[in-house]
Amino acid sequence: MARCHCRWYKVVFCLCSPCICLLLFLLCIYVMLGIKMTNSSFNMSPTGAHFVASGTFRNAGFAPMPRTFWAQPSQVKALWNHLQLVSERQYNPILRPHNSKVRFDTESLVWEGFSEVTDLENGISNFGGQPQLMKEFVSHMQQRDFPILIQPDGICGAGAKNEKKRPLLLMAIKSSELNLRNRHAIRQTWGRAGWVAGHSRNRSRGEEIGGYVHRVFLLGRESPENLGVDVSELLQTESKLYGDILQWDFKDTFFNLTLKDVLFWNWFSRVCGPIHFVFKGDDDIFVNTMKLITYLQDQLNKPQAHKTMKDFMVGQVSNVSLPVRASNSKYFIPDSFYKGLYPPYASGGGVVYSGLLTRRLHKMSKRVHLFPIDDVYVGMCMDRLNTSPIHHPAFLMFGFDEKEEKEPCLYHRILLVHKRSPIEMVNLWVYMKKTQIQCWDVPLRETGQGQGT
Ligand SMILES: *[C@@H]1O[C@H](CO)[C@@H](O)[C@H](O)[C@H]1NC(C)=O
Ligand SMILES: *[C@@H]1O[C@H](CO)[C@@H](O)[C@H](O)[C@H]1NC(C)=O
Ligand SMILES: *[C@@H]1O[C@H](CO)[C@@H](O)[C@H](O)[C@H]1NC(C)=O
Repeated sequence: MARCHCRWYKVVFCLCSPCICLLLFLLCIYVMLGIKMTNSSFNMSPTGAHFVASGTFRNAGFAPMPRTFWAQPSQVKALWNHLQLVSERQYNPILRPHNSKVRFDTESLVWEGFSEVTDLENGISNFGGQPQLMKEFVSHMQQRDFPILIQPDGICGAGAKNEKKRPLLLMAIKSSELNLRNRHAIRQTWGRAGWVAGHSRNRSRGEEIGGYVHRVFLLGRESPENLGVDVSELLQTESKLYGDILQWDFKDTFFNLTLKDVLFWNWFSRVCGPIHFVFKGDDDIFVNTMKLITYLQDQLNKPQAHKTMKDFMVGQVSNVSLPVRASNSKYFIPDSFYKGLYPPYASGGGVVYSGLLTRRLHKMSKRVHLFPIDDVYVGMCMDRLNTSPIHHPAFLMFGFDEKEEKEPCLYHRILLVHKRSPIEMVNLWVYMKKTQIQCWDVPLRETGQGQGT
């Protein structure tokens, strides 16, 4: 009886001792992690291999992303990075599991982070050293709820009535109150709304390629003191006539352009139905609309289109670049405001993305603090969506190469070129129609073209 008891005792001991050891070991790790996380002097080493929480960021090299999920915001000296890190922590799925799910759609967390940082002594001291324009930007950067002054009465900008198919493209063009001539030229030429024919690849077969196009101009407000005249009535008339004006009540300045993205995404998500694509660009460019429509139809016809559309963005992509640090530049960003590289971004002069992506960007933008340069901001949101824009050499932001200029059918090779005046737009449009037959078969510009030829 006693021997039997002893054997059972041994078995229990053999089974339990590894479990107890394992428990002790885990407890040890837990305590060590806890010490590291609470120790604020813990030094982030950029090269070390750290645990990276999935889904919150992709490129650990870009400054605004916390390299580790316990990175301490107070160690970051640039204002924007600091603000963003505080917000990233609010949404960190490990530190705050509830925030990342339940409160995805609320904006309050970003504002919480804002007051947290600007209340801090070091946040304020950084702020003091910023140039004047930057100060103005920072003092308004938590405000996004500007009222709409004028909006189209159509469903989603000016377009065709009784469309028989899902609309293909919404052209959202950044304009300003005074650029009336640009808007007028665009309406007559590359920005026509309604059914727009594409460029059929085989003339003899006469296949019909085309799509419904909508159009909207995005405007802020010019201050009447600067302008000397009040154009608001004129704009009302223009809106009644064309139904393509969307104007918000904020000052139309370079640093406020990001608001046009954020507020446009918001408007789009509310009023636009399932439009396939959005083109967003300046009002001083020329777009080869026929080819663009064909290009976009091709994207829809690709076998994996239903999967790739959720990330689709194409334009002239700047890979990974440094902020401009020359204080006389329009793009100047002091390193007390932003440290690190910019993520890849498509030039804001003209970019195309899917309607699906527009809605995702709208959601994501609620978690990302406004940045004064609009296309970089879009890149930052893209990066947080774990995706990046596709580069296409037919988007020309800096014009043609010198050698290329003499090539025949030049403008048939591109999708978009910057920068063109209203008169040039009209002339180019006429030229496109005239040369359509002889230039029918020229392919779109590809990488390296015009450089070696
Ligand atoms: C265009 O279509 C015709 C008739 O279907 C065909 O014979 C020809 O090869 C096509 N050309 C091209 C470039 O696809
Ligand atoms: C942006 O617009 C707001 C509202 O009109 C204005 O107060 C602010 O000064 C503008 N910001 C910049 C940087 O111009
Ligand atoms: C973009 O970056 C990748 C990797 O960082 C590099 O391989 C590629 O050549 C770059 N492309 C351009 C156009 O600079």
